[in-house]
Amino acid sequence: MPVSLLLRFALPLLGVLALMAAALTPLVDSLVGRWFQHDLEIRSRLVFNSVEDSLPGLIHAPSRHEMKLLFDRIAEDERVLAIGWCGTTDRLETTSKAWPVALGCLPTKSGKALFKTEQVGRGGVLYAGFPVVTPAGDIGQLVILHDLSFIERRSFDARLYLWALLAVLGTAAAAVTVLTAQLTLRGWVQSVRHALNAPAGDRRFRGDSQIAPVISEVRQLLRDLDISRRTAVGIRVDWSPETLRRVLDNELPGVEVVVVSNREPYIHNRNDAGQIEVQRPASGLVTAFEPVMRACGGTWVAHGSGSADKETVDKHDRVAVPPDTPTYTLKRIWLSDDEQKGYYYGLANEGLWPLCHITFSRPVFRQPDWEQYVSVNRKFADVVAREVQRPDPVILVQDYHFALLPRLLRDRLPDATIVAFWHIPWPNPEVFGICPWREAIVDGLLGSSIVGFHTQLHCNNFIETADRFIECHIDREDASVAVGGHSAQVRAYPISIAWPPPPLEGLASVADCRANVFRRYNLPPDTVLGVGIERFDYTKGIPDRFLAVEIFFEKHPEWIGRFVFLQVAAPTRSGLTLYRDVQKESAELADRINARFGRNNYQPIILVIRHHEPEEVYEIFRAADLCIVSSLHDGMNLVAKEFVAARDDEQGVLILSTFTGASRELMEALIVNPFDARATADMIDKALRMPQDEQAERMRLMRELVRENNVFYWAGRMLLDTARIRKRVRIETAIAAVNGRRRGAL
Ligand code: F6P
Repeated sequence: MPVSLLLRFALPLLGVLALMAAALTPLVDSLVGRWFQHDLEIRSRLVFNSVEDSLPGLIHAPSRHEMKLLFDRIAEDERVLAIGWCGTTDRLETTSKAWPVALGCLPTKSGKALFKTEQVGRGGVLYAGFPVVTPAGDIGQLVILHDLSFIERRSFDARLYLWALLAVLGTAAAAVTVLTAQLTLRGWVQSVRHALNAPAGDRRFRGDSQIAPVISEVRQLLRDLDISRRTAVGIRVDWSPETLRRVLDNELPGVEVVVVSNREPYIHNRNDAGQIEVQRPASGLVTAFEPVMRACGGTWVAHGSGSADKETVDKHDRVAVPPDTPTYTLKRIWLSDDEQKGYYYGLANEGLWPLCHITFSRPVFRQPDWEQYVSVNRKFADVVAREVQRPDPVILVQDYHFALLPRLLRDRLPDATIVAFWHIPWPNPEVFGICPWREAIVDGLLGSSIVGFHTQLHCNNFIETADRFIECHIDREDASVAVGGHSAQVRAYPISIAWPPPPLEGLASVADCRANVFRRYNLPPDTVLGVGIERFDYTKGIPDRFLAVEIFFEKHPEWIGRFVFLQVAAPTRSGLTLYRDVQKESAELADRINARFGRNNYQPIILVIRHHEPEEVYEIFRAADLCIVSSLHDGMNLVAKEFVAARDDEQGVLILSTFTGASRELMEALIVNPFDARATADMIDKALRMPQDEQAERMRLMRELVRENNVFYWAGRMLLDTARIRKRVRIETAIAAVNGRRRGAL
């Protein structure tokens, strides 16, 4: 039982009971006193009545011997102290033993019995005098003395009983009060907790006059706190390309930066007309790193996958990018079909991708795929080692395609600072443990100086996996894992997008974007538009989203004819069955829903399967009333952040899967479990009914967060940690050199 409750409720109650005890005690004393005195008077009368008849004989007896004997016998009664005979002259003539010496006879009045309390020594006695007139005319008084000390004892006992009773009653009442208070409090706290967790405006809590004001106050406080926290961070650093450049100049002067990824930031393709086109891929990694490389310069090493890539490079397979304003070098590596099949489609996308995403699709592990994966990782390691100009570059290794690369690079470039970033989730050891090459993969990554993930949970999972499967030393305080004398730090860096978002530059107003998109898809002006934009990947939950839309129409038929969902999906990894299946399943679902709810010119789901350039994506985001990101599992999901970034009008609602890293940051989105289609359907209804001011409030907070935690902040934090590690290594090397010289001199 909480001490505070005890103090608050039980102590005052016990105080009141103590006061009652103090007030009642004199009353009890006087009641008990009077009660026993009355009792003694009756007893005295009884004694007197029993001896009255024998008194004349005893008075006239020759001696008082008989009388004394009788008196002694009567005085044996424990309540009778003594008994005596006062003669006519009020002289004490005969007494039993123990008659107090100091006490004489008291005169009675007009033949009435006399009852009087007298003080004898320290105690009190009751003097009961009964006038006696004998037939012979003798007058005297029989006196019976009662010891009153027992009344005091009884009073004391009565007081004790009273206090004990009050104490028992008090304790019981206090216990009941505290228990009731605790239960009430618990119930209240639970209601508040439910209300706080419920989406803002939940009708269930609106009517509760006790909880509703508290909830709105708490929400306001949280908002204020959030704003002040964000303001404080904002005051510290406003991250931009300029800040990133300053970090490089101040913390890593003259450093050589190399990025390695499978996907290249610019793909040169030859189109049907035979012309060369530049395409920017639909890749979160590229979205995030491109602005960083523009700010830092350096070299990006990637697989050259475009049909015109070979034609656009120099003799060293390099091309300066971005094509319009070159600021860094793209170094392309060529892969054979076999290499692509084994390394990219096989091990990376049929093995590691489903292994790390918990979407219940079985990973496939084939030995030849693994061999290609190892050999392509070696190929990249050799190219990077040849490409770098200095022995100590900063090498930023991206993603699950290159788990072995950090260790291979460490062997070739021992002084390099290697940062490996894993863009997808890292599952727990039980899940990861099914991979036949788990030890090699974990050990490969631990060749890095830093291993980065989007969330702390993925960091924890990685450390637990290392702990479970390889020989290593883990420092949990520093979150680092050491293998064979080399230590790698494991850190969470939630990835983000550039701010201000480059695709927004030069884009039309929200109203114009909406008009363009509505015109393109022949939508009537009063249409309410929901959108989803991503690669056509089975982890993105596109069929689940369509199912939710179908249930939404079933449950809320008033939206049929008014709501249209536009799904834009870029084809991806189409060589793999799972990807072909998800496309097929989605197209069939869209057809079914359109057949069920479509009519005349109304088509509830529009599915567009083609790559969209970032400006097109942003235009669609700006046209939408609602965006659904229903990934079944996702490391971060930058689409969610892009939607928020596109809405400078602070309108539009984001429905976001709880299984994305983004949901840890974008808490003002409507968070859903994409596996629960009915709940998602209700969320669509809620989103479409959300008042504009609530949309604005939520959007403002999310935009603040994306603005502050932008991609420059993400890269900046990694580079600052990189700089710290390099300084530490330099100091350690200097100390080792001094020690070596000292040993040599001895
Ligand atoms: O999410 C992991 C990731 O590598 C992203 O960085 C990127 O968006 C996506 O996969 C790209 O996949 P691919 O290069 O196979 O098309």
